[in-house]
Amino acid sequence: MRNEKNIIYFVTTNENKFEEILKLFQSENVNYNLIQLNVEVNEIQTNSIQEVASFKLNSIKGQVDGSYFIEDAGFFVDIPLNGFPGVYSSYVMKTIGNNGILRLIDDFEKTSAHFSSIIALYFKPLDKNLFFEGTIHGKISKTVRGERGFGFDPIFIPNSISNKTFAEISTEEKNNISHRGQALKKLISFLKN
Ligand code: IMP
Repeated sequence: MRNEKNIIYFVTTNENKFEEILKLFQSENVNYNLIQLNVEVNEIQTNSIQEVASFKLNSIKGQVDGSYFIEDAGFFVDIPLNGFPGVYSSYVMKTIGNNGILRLIDDFEKTSAHFSSIIALYFKPLDKNLFFEGTIHGKISKTVRGERGFGFDPIFIPNSISNKTFAEISTEEKNNISHRGQALKKLISFLKN
């Protein structure tokens, strides 16, 4: 008997995110075909990426026939910026970018930062919204370093990889430890069970 794969939609316009998630789906042998879908998503401004993700997911309801998910991430410079840019990450990336963040930091010996990711899934068989999260801690690089990845990757040095930014490692290495990789592994384990 042929083993038909189910379809699951990832709603995003971000090709980098899609590529990261597709790679992990393929390496984990998930019994789902992942399809990128670009539909109108409404955004709200709140202080939590969980609320942003939940609002986005509900704004898509009725536009997709099947199970689908979105992913929302934030970059938080805990020391010395008290969590900035956080939920404003996208706007800050578009306006001052990585060099702008570096200019806000005086003492690079004492930085601390993290990325958080929320995957919000509408799972049709259960008619339910489900959430999966991941966080990674690290510090800020003194300079913009590396050609890979996207967004704030060139200024983030994860604690578990000594002195390399996310932009200096491969997608597979990033997926192994990243906020998105962790959230996705939880989603995959849900889909497998
Ligand atoms: P969003 O999840 O697309 O809203 O992401 C918010 C901002 O954080 C955007 O500017 C992204 O480029 C950036 N961002 C999201 N995920 C990552 C990541 O894995 N590495 C670096 N920057 C990221």
